[in-house]
Amino acid sequence: MNARYLLAIAALAASGVVAACSSGDPSQILRPGGDDDDTLPGGGNKPSQDNGSTQPGQQDGQPAPGGLPTNSKAGQAFYAKEVHPFLAQKCAGCHQAGGAGNPAFLVRDDAMKSYDMIYLNGFAIATSRIVMKGIHSNGAAPELTGPEKTKFAEWIALEVKDGGSKAQANVLEKFGECFDKAKFDAIGWQNLRVTRRQNGNNPQNLNENQDTCTGCRDNTPCSGCHTADDVTGYVNAIGNTLVPQDFTFQETKKLNPAFIRQYVSTTPTGDPVYNPGVMNKSINTVEKAPAYSHPMFKMSAAMEAANKAFVEDAITKFKAGTCGK
Ligand code: HEC
Ligand code: HEC
Repeated sequence: MNARYLLAIAALAASGVVAACSSGDPSQILRPGGDDDDTLPGGGNKPSQDNGSTQPGQQDGQPAPGGLPTNSKAGQAFYAKEVHPFLAQKCAGCHQAGGAGNPAFLVRDDAMKSYDMIYLNGFAIATSRIVMKGIHSNGAAPELTGPEKTKFAEWIALEVKDGGSKAQANVLEKFGECFDKAKFDAIGWQNLRVTRRQNGNNPQNLNENQDTCTGCRDNTPCSGCHTADDVTGYVNAIGNTLVPQDFTFQETKKLNPAFIRQYVSTTPTGDPVYNPGVMNKSINTVEKAPAYSHPMFKMSAAMEAANKAFVEDAITKFKAGTCGK
């Protein structure tokens, strides 16, 4: 049994949001490891379907993956020879095209491009989501084997050795010191709320019955599920009075669990880049995710602009060496 799945469900149950969605059929409960869109029953995938979201590294002004400079030629060569083959074989089937909550981080036949994309997704760290993820997609996505995890760890060790303080792990570990609390507060994360899917408010015209599904009830705050559930990879506890007032801000700085990844990642030379994680999730929940999966939420362009301003400000301070001063 998938431990991560159990954990997530336990956390959801603890937060009181596992309602008997639909008929109480457990398969209708939000299944973090399973039924996101783009995955057909039985784990098949529709690779031609674009998730309609912006992928890291492919936005305006962001570096394009493939041929980016690296601090570790040895690490890059090791990745191509020892790591890429098993990721391409086991993961590219679903993570080349990507989907809702399903990042595109691989190109099966292009190790160099994949190397850059793993960086641009914030996955080039020892506690990478790639290693931690485990079985998902209803069992169609395998966990890496012990020897594969060892290869991944050897690869990251090479990157850290050659990259020094410019290695992704080091850059992101300290990057939270660059965050400005006032700019973070200006984003207004507490204003994000769940919107029940119903005819006319989503392009797929999905309908959810909010009386039988607590997680999709209109105006459900994100904190219900994102206060203390590390496995979701995201923290938004604003409004939850059980935690300190600056809890969300402080947690957001963390690299382990990699909550910071929703905001920033790096290139292979350790240059921080903006990562619009929450906006991508929003677009996916509106345009692609099925009913009763991750609740729909609509993030405004103004909120996205404030989020980007917050991260760009931190990047500017990082480059100027003024973080934490
Ligand atoms: C059969 C399709 C499929 C395969 C194969 C697959 N994945 Fe996934 N992956 C998904 C789907 C669907 C999601 C989104 C739902 C979720 O998070 O479980 C996802 C999400 C992810 C995420 C992002 C969410 C998070 O928890 O951080 C990571 C990282 C990930 N997969 C890693 C992997 C790795 C590593 C492999 C190969 C060992 C792999 N996947 C193979 C379908 C697949
Ligand atoms: C009913 C519980 C629930 C509610 C309410 C909820 N989430 Fe989630 N969220 C999850 C779970 C479970 C995951 C992990 C699996 C997935 O990606 O769907 C997740 C994942 C995420 C992720 C990370 C995706 C990734 O791949 O890294 C983001 C961002 C996110 N949620 C944002 C939000 C926002 C913003 C809100 C409020 C508008 C919200 N969520 C409300 C349960 C919830």
